[in-house]
Amino acid sequence: MNKFIAPSMLAADFANLQRDIEMINNSKADWFHIDVMDGMFVPNISFGMPVISAIKKHAKKIMDVHLMIVDPDRYIADFKKVGADILTVHYEACPHLHRTVQEIKRQGMKAGVSLNPHTPIAVLEDIIADLDLVLIMSVNPGFGGQSFIENTYKKVQQLRALIEFSESDALIEVDGGVTDQNIEQLLEAGADAFVAGSFVFKSENPTETIANLKGLVSGI
Ligand code: DX5
Ligand code: ZN
Repeated sequence: MNKFIAPSMLAADFANLQRDIEMINNSKADWFHIDVMDGMFVPNISFGMPVISAIKKHAKKIMDVHLMIVDPDRYIADFKKVGADILTVHYEACPHLHRTVQEIKRQGMKAGVSLNPHTPIAVLEDIIADLDLVLIMSVNPGFGGQSFIENTYKKVQQLRALIEFSESDALIEVDGGVTDQNIEQLLEAGADAFVAGSFVFKSENPTETIANLKGLVSGI
């Protein structure tokens, strides 16, 4: 099975966005991870539609958009318009999650659901068959550069078991504090996609860092 590296644009240099986008285009990265924060669901505000459109103009890879916002239903069509390929909403922000997921798919995007660190895997039992992706938060959402929560390994294993039991096609993505120190254990636990923000962009050679991470998860 393919494994995916998704550098988080939250850690890019916003004054040199095009440079950082080209770096990802020319790297072994698979997806652009785009973190949208509204200052309500999470304390921080990141960026919105105009910035995502600008990224899309240059990005040559999948746009993996992670919504950390309340009431995401209001913006599903807008995120499609600005170029999202995968649209992930938070379980904790969606009282009518089934409807939200169907709407994302109806608009022609892959549908993802994200769980905060305290939210158990079991809440996905009745929706897992409809999902293309589950995003396990390995930090509390809202900020880059936080340290990885160790309980994540157990959650990834539990989710892998649920996916197999339900014969779901959902990919497992892990987001927050991912480095070369935990990525192999996450792979072993059953993860498919790995978001890395500061570990990539704060490194001396981001292109090489991405290649190393990709190598660690694809047995190169
Ligand atoms: C956190 C975001 C993450 C973040 C990851 O709320 O969802 O995608 O950018 O950044 P690092 O890899 O620095 O933890
Ligand atoms: Zn994210």
